[in-house]
Amino acid sequence: MPQDTTTASDDTTGTGTAVRAVINLDLEGPRISRHIYGHFAEHLGRCIYDGFYVGEDSDIPNEGGIRLDVVEALRALNIPNLRWPGGCFADEYHWMDGIGPKEDRPSMVNTHWGNVEENNHFGTHEFMALCELLGADPYISGNVGSGTVREMSEWVEYLTRNGDSPMVRLRKQNGREEPWKVPFWGIGNEAWGCGGNMSAQAYTDEARRYSTYCRNHGDNTLYRIAAGARDDDYSWTKTLMESMNCLGCQREPTSYFQAVSFHYYTIPGPWEDKGNALVFTDDEYYLTMLNAQRVDEIIEGHSRVMDCYDPKKRVGLVLDEWGTWWNVEPGTNPGFLFQQNTLRDALVASLHFDIFHRHAERLVMANIAQTVNVLQAMLLTDGESLVLTPSYHVFEMNKGHQDAASLDVHLLGVTAREVEGEELRTLSASASVKGSTALVSVSNLDAGSAREVSFDLRGRSVTGVRGRILTADTLQDHNAPEHPESVAPRDFDGAETTDDGLRVALPPHSFVTLELTLA
Ligand code: AHR
Repeated sequence: MPQDTTTASDDTTGTGTAVRAVINLDLEGPRISRHIYGHFAEHLGRCIYDGFYVGEDSDIPNEGGIRLDVVEALRALNIPNLRWPGGCFADEYHWMDGIGPKEDRPSMVNTHWGNVEENNHFGTHEFMALCELLGADPYISGNVGSGTVREMSEWVEYLTRNGDSPMVRLRKQNGREEPWKVPFWGIGNEAWGCGGNMSAQAYTDEARRYSTYCRNHGDNTLYRIAAGARDDDYSWTKTLMESMNCLGCQREPTSYFQAVSFHYYTIPGPWEDKGNALVFTDDEYYLTMLNAQRVDEIIEGHSRVMDCYDPKKRVGLVLDEWGTWWNVEPGTNPGFLFQQNTLRDALVASLHFDIFHRHAERLVMANIAQTVNVLQAMLLTDGESLVLTPSYHVFEMNKGHQDAASLDVHLLGVTAREVEGEELRTLSASASVKGSTALVSVSNLDAGSAREVSFDLRGRSVTGVRGRILTADTLQDHNAPEHPESVAPRDFDGAETTDDGLRVALPPHSFVTLELTLA
């Protein structure tokens, strides 16, 4: 833990210890890639079908089968990229089954997720149309586990090549003249598990081979992302990085892949009983936050390994699956991973973003799992209804950090809480600046105590403040069709200007953003 942390307090009554937060508004750090606000949509449960895609004949307003209410809600987040078609599904997906007239597309069994039949009605063209509607960059995960090098190579050609070629002719035959732009390409997924149960070395060799044939066609440049580690498996990252590095030869470390990924889910319970999304105690809440806080040391660990091989940080680190994973809602298909989303999930998200912002130098992308109706979703649909989850609001309130310069926030006097022998910092903050606006995000993770934070704002003068808050009576509060705004952002009037900056009174379990206008 940092030296300045005061370990103490189970204060459940008053405003607790005042915390000092020092920000030098003129000392800009690395840029926060907008892609850390990325999303993930898998053929899993009701994420694609019912979530994004209802088909052209649906009564729900749609364009080419894509739900327009979902598009509108996600556009408000400035969603930068969307990862598809999996996850585990990616390694059993054969893209050629998902092109051409829908009635001719063969179906398959989605063996990972519920053993349901997949009719392939949502395929390449539908995904690319969705990205265009969202204004998001596509991030496609290719099939290494059960696919072939040729299949992946032809998919890239189909999507991105101009001029004349077999795949270009096929694409045109299916109604698309112009090539698309596909910036992000994943070489498989979780190769240590559902993506083929490979060893790190076996996957690394495969990934180099696959990457070789994922060509840059015309002016489309692929950013190839190697499927990385689970949690803190640093040896996986080491194996990948070792293969990219070539001491003594002329090759750049980014010759094969431009980034390596890893996955980290917040799962505070054992796998067999991950906990209930809606019913939990304060102790379970704190354990969740401790689990979420761990992503800091894990990013740090992978970065340290990468630094040994790539000190100039040319290889990106990508966390392309993160979020909470609870038991499914009672009565729903266990293979569909449908879970509710409370204020607790929102605070997990805000804590992750503070940590991501601090690692802006190495972390280039992150993708919440998953966008609609699966795991820590942004949106929940049920027939015609659409609900914005508390987590959605964190993404929206934080969107000003996208592509802004990070600013260090020095927190002094933060109360830490002992949770299962470890220390959870109960206050978290991060900040960024873009031109004449700075955005400060601050979360009071304490379940029962308010906190006062004195911001010492240096280097530039602040001429205006707009505050917003996301909180609720209880951590269990959530949104549903009958009460869609139980947890929704409101104007915040708890920030008062002082000689040095601001004094901010944070209610318990709250997330606040402060947009500062700078002279
Ligand atoms: O997001 C659900 C699953 O979690 C993904 O398919 C897989 O990559 C991970 O294990």
